[in-house]
Amino acid sequence: MFKNFYFKRNFQSEALCTDFLSKDEPHDLNCLFLSSPKGVGKTSFIINDLMPKLRQDGANVAYCDLWSQESGGARGELLVALNGVLVSAGLHSLSNQHAPLIAAYLSNGGEKQKPNVASVTAGFVLGLLRDILEYTKRDLVLILDEAQDILDDADGMALLIGMRALMSPATLADGAGRLRLICTGSYRDKLNALVLQKEAPFFGAHVQEFPRLGREFVEALTEALNARFSDSNQLDVEDVDTAFSLLGNQPATLIHVLVDHALGAQGSAGLRQTITQNPDSLRLLAWQTQNSGFEGLTALQRRVLEVLLEDGSGFSPFAARTLARIGEAMGEKPSAPKVQKALDGLRERGIVWRPGRGRYALQDQDMREWLGRLLAA
Ligand SMILES: Nc1ncnc2c1ncn2[C@@H]1O[C@H](COP(=O)(O)OP(=O)(O)OP(=O)(O)O)[C@@H](O)[C@H]1O
Ligand SMILES: [Mg+2]
Repeated sequence: MFKNFYFKRNFQSEALCTDFLSKDEPHDLNCLFLSSPKGVGKTSFIINDLMPKLRQDGANVAYCDLWSQESGGARGELLVALNGVLVSAGLHSLSNQHAPLIAAYLSNGGEKQKPNVASVTAGFVLGLLRDILEYTKRDLVLILDEAQDILDDADGMALLIGMRALMSPATLADGAGRLRLICTGSYRDKLNALVLQKEAPFFGAHVQEFPRLGREFVEALTEALNARFSDSNQLDVEDVDTAFSLLGNQPATLIHVLVDHALGAQGSAGLRQTITQNPDSLRLLAWQTQNSGFEGLTALQRRVLEVLLEDGSGFSPFAARTLARIGEAMGEKPSAPKVQKALDGLRERGIVWRPGRGRYALQDQDMREWLGRLLAA
């Protein structure tokens, strides 16, 4: 029930597009990095709101889901996405002489949307990208959803370095469009790996928090649901708002919870009872979407997490007093490298991230108090 509700975020896509397309960054760093926990609507926003607006504003747009692996890795995803641009830009009629790479690609079955990935290299894909920029003379916005996954790809680094080079107009023919990149990620830390270190392909860019849905969404959803429910089964917008916060702003989880309550024994009124008497049940739902939970965490990882929660921004994992405190509950003081390894495991699961060297923080600060109770239980 109620699968088709979608709240359009026109105002946000407009602000993002205007900023992004009009920007000419120094050092040719035309990229936007957006991060948020899972399930808050990044992919939906990009596909339903941002891409149509970018196209309307005159850019070519290519979207790759790097998590899906459907087309045989990053190279394949890029080829399929660029194929879409070739079709919509009508470049299929270009002759060999004008665009040799496009022609080579098309003769390799590209037009049928099933490019032969095995027979092309990362260099070829980058050349195709260049040809498109030069022949359409329009900006191309390349969207890499779950961009961090490209780092696990055999060609990942070569592709990223090549894209960075193509952002510089000096590498392209006169009048060519600009390459702009939008990257999203569900793990801030992994996305940061693309921008923070000196050797990182997009060093100098910074990762922004993806704007989450808020009050307007809650109001629109409540109204739409109430229109379907009987007069005696109406939702209260304040209750829905509280539930949405407890659920970490996950729209689909909220819809699921609201419909479940409305159909339950107590009806919509039961929602107030849940948010006042059992808010942790909603926090747990949010946590389950975002993490694989506590299963498999080692005793050391749990203890390190506890101390991190206690110390907050003052957490200093390798200080002697911290190691001693971690050791107190474990019977033995761990070495700094062991604590480092435990923290790496917590980062890998998306529970913790590293805002800077030697600094660690909870991925979702709203979860702090609740997580503490969960660990203590
Ligand atoms: N504006 C919206 N209105 C209604 N539902 C939405 C909206 N945005 C997202 N959703 C729903 O929320 C769910 C999660 O959205 P989406 O997959 O876009 O999130 P995500 O941040 O990309 O998550 P992940 O990190 O897991 O890829 C989907 O079921 C989607 O339909
Ligand atoms: Mg997504």
